[in-house]
Amino acid sequence: MITDDALAVFRKEFGTEPTGLWAAPGRVNLIGEHTDYNEGFVLPFALPQRTIAAVGPAPAGEWTVCSTFADEAVSFGLTEPGEVTGWAAYVAGVVWALHDAGYQVPGARIALASEVPLGSGLSSSAALESSVLTALVDLGGLDLPLEKRPAVAQRAENVYVGAPTGILDQSASIRCQEGRALFLDCRSYEVEQIPFDLAAEGLAILVINSNAPHQHVDGEYGARRKSCEDAARLLGVPALRDITGAELDDALSRLDDEVMRRRVRHIVTEDDRVLATVKLLHAGQVREIGPLLTASHVSMRDDFEITVAQVDLAVETALEVGAYGARMTGGGFGGCVLALIDADKADVVTTAVEEAYAKAGFTPPTAWTVTAGPGAGKL
Ligand code: GLA
Repeated sequence: MITDDALAVFRKEFGTEPTGLWAAPGRVNLIGEHTDYNEGFVLPFALPQRTIAAVGPAPAGEWTVCSTFADEAVSFGLTEPGEVTGWAAYVAGVVWALHDAGYQVPGARIALASEVPLGSGLSSSAALESSVLTALVDLGGLDLPLEKRPAVAQRAENVYVGAPTGILDQSASIRCQEGRALFLDCRSYEVEQIPFDLAAEGLAILVINSNAPHQHVDGEYGARRKSCEDAARLLGVPALRDITGAELDDALSRLDDEVMRRRVRHIVTEDDRVLATVKLLHAGQVREIGPLLTASHVSMRDDFEITVAQVDLAVETALEVGAYGARMTGGGFGGCVLALIDADKADVVTTAVEEAYAKAGFTPPTAWTVTAGPGAGKL
């Protein structure tokens, strides 16, 4: 049990019992990719896989963090961005971001364990940040409402760690609810909890980790983001979110750069696909979201150019053996695919993808079915 792992590490490192255990999940984004930093729409749900933080008090201004995935504990006081590096930077970043937002952050001893696969596009870093943030807020009795927490965790990642990511991952980890998908407006941070009970429909989401090595993730992510922001400037809108589907052709005709045109087309059509998905889910037409998922993948592959061969093959194979829809989920350049399937088809789809990978000479994939789990909280 992952909770036992966190407890064991805490006891071993600190020789005492923690005050409590806090959990925060990784996420799967059902649809709405790279729309978050364009102030558009996303629709993630929380994975059952979580990061656990066992946390207890320490003297004011002192933090020590240890984990199952590192040999050494790391101690720090109040630091400035960049001072703590490596995995502990996510923790130091949360402390910094809370302090920078004006909160009196309690000193703490923290032991971490995680079952969110690292570097697979399932937001292991957001799960870590969110578990620590939630623990520190509770421990210190900090008056930080749920809806304001993701932006604090995001600053830890953007400013302290230095990754230019959007608000999707931390929002999912903190604000998702069990059995629901989180429809988030990334401009207003308003959310709607959309019922998402696949089992009731005899359906399942299969997550297929391509196990493809992540390549050029940071540089390519930043390049996509810049291209979108440049396009918004050229088009005279605050963000690409402000271009509607009906205005797309006109917007594209005003851009000279072919690559930029494709980036814009992905974002504008992806926002529309999120809205269409929400509408179908509201109407209880869950199978019918399949084509939207697949269209999202095609758009990421051809227009946003963030997929890799392993990911494309998993999508194609899943569709060939009967998935209603399939797409890459997360930032891209490797990572995971999700497929909407009949619940009794998980083995068939998994085997087909395994065989296709073997034939192509790719590292074997890992696949498992998921349900929408709860967001961050104390256990
Ligand atoms: C990564 C980022 C998110 C989001 C996705 C793409 O997961 O952390 O902010 O941009 O990529 O949708």
